[in-house]
Amino acid sequence: MVTGKPALRINRLRGRELMKLWGGRFTKATNQLVDEFNASISFDKRFYKQDITGSIAHVTMLAKQGILTEEERDCIKAGLEGILSDIKEGKLQIDETAEDIHSFVEATLIERIGDTGKKLHTGRSRNDQVALDMKLYTRDEISELHGLIVELLKTILKIMEENTETYMPGFTHLQKAQPLTLAHHFGAYFEMFLRDKTRLEDIYKRMNYCPLGSGALAGTTYPLDREYTAELLGFDGPTFNSMDSVADRDYLIELLSAMATIMMHLSRFSEEIIIWNSNEYRFVEIDDAYSTGSSIMPQKKNPDIAELVRGKTGRVYGALMSLLTTMKGIPLAYNKDMQEDKEMTFDAIDTTKGCIQLFTGMIATMRFRKDVMAKSAMNGFTNATDAADYLVNHGVPFRDAHGIIGQIVLYCIDKNISIEEMSLEELKAISPVFEEDIYDAISLKTCVEKRTTIGGPGPEAMKQVIARCHKLLEEE
Ligand code: ARG
Repeated sequence: MVTGKPALRINRLRGRELMKLWGGRFTKATNQLVDEFNASISFDKRFYKQDITGSIAHVTMLAKQGILTEEERDCIKAGLEGILSDIKEGKLQIDETAEDIHSFVEATLIERIGDTGKKLHTGRSRNDQVALDMKLYTRDEISELHGLIVELLKTILKIMEENTETYMPGFTHLQKAQPLTLAHHFGAYFEMFLRDKTRLEDIYKRMNYCPLGSGALAGTTYPLDREYTAELLGFDGPTFNSMDSVADRDYLIELLSAMATIMMHLSRFSEEIIIWNSNEYRFVEIDDAYSTGSSIMPQKKNPDIAELVRGKTGRVYGALMSLLTTMKGIPLAYNKDMQEDKEMTFDAIDTTKGCIQLFTGMIATMRFRKDVMAKSAMNGFTNATDAADYLVNHGVPFRDAHGIIGQIVLYCIDKNISIEEMSLEELKAISPVFEEDIYDAISLKTCVEKRTTIGGPGPEAMKQVIARCHKLLEEE
């Protein structure tokens, strides 16, 4: 059992020492636990593509500035491209004994092309390199998140269009308040996710400046063309302070905050769907493909996806708090604490993307029980405000009208009926102002249709809003 182990360990250490970028001033090997504690390869390997893309832009610029020859540039470029395609095709395994992805790529390059590979890191530090890699990676992920939010918005808009006359109760304090439509209810979420979409666009714009060329913290003595690398990598320009460039993680905090807000919106929506899907409400039925069962209770069909989305919201909030706390005491410029930005951000991005995708699928396939919703809107006195407004329109001061309808509600509760089920005589006994037209004035349809101000649930107002939503999504 014991034989063989020491030899294995020596081999591993040798590999690790070989791939180190900073062995020169050290006289002995690093403690193994230190190596493991310090390493980031297990998680930063996910941006190998961005690391190689950044390196290619860097050597292209070095050759343009005469710091590398064209032959050296071509040789390094070909080497890097080979590494990229080999990793993609599974021909090259990322060796996790390396400290980080930067060390692995550089060591592999030197192994493959020899001494020319040792010139790759000229005029660069891992501090500006990792700042660049993380920005490139985050930028790609913001675009993906944006695309998923657009899909969600399109799905919500389709449901809105199909349900401008699907009546349901609107709630305050989770008590029935006034009638509205399913289109109006979903429209509220459209507005929330629309804000989320523009928040992502803002972050992208603000972060899109290239830190490459900032060196360890104080720039470099080489005549780098930072504008050129920024342009090659699709940035709007270079960053303007080399210390800030390597120490800035604001854009991650902004993204985590935007994702926390997306999750908060998804979580609220999930909570409503869980309530609507309950045996008591029965407003919706979640499709079998998006439901799960119980191992013991055969009758169960549970809204697990909505519950998980609600639950995972806590993880994303946690990542935001975690990074804010990590950053709060870090003096300028780069400190190793900042390596902690990655795992939590990656997890939050994966979680948010997964949740948006699953949530979109769940609502796209969900069945709405329009009859149950309408029936629920008719019970529970959702037309009480409209009944009071009827009296006001017939000259009764609003405060008095409020009191009269309060009495009517009490009467109905006692008789277990709704307002429209009272006879005209019964109504008149409480207030002589009531006439036959009261029934039309407090019907579900009238209550909704009369709410014509922009932003309200009336079909005319909704039509205008839906047209605006379409316009906003046109270019997406
Ligand atoms: N793995 C490191 C990080 O994620 C890369 C930068 C290392 N720089 C350094 N000076 N040790 O932050």
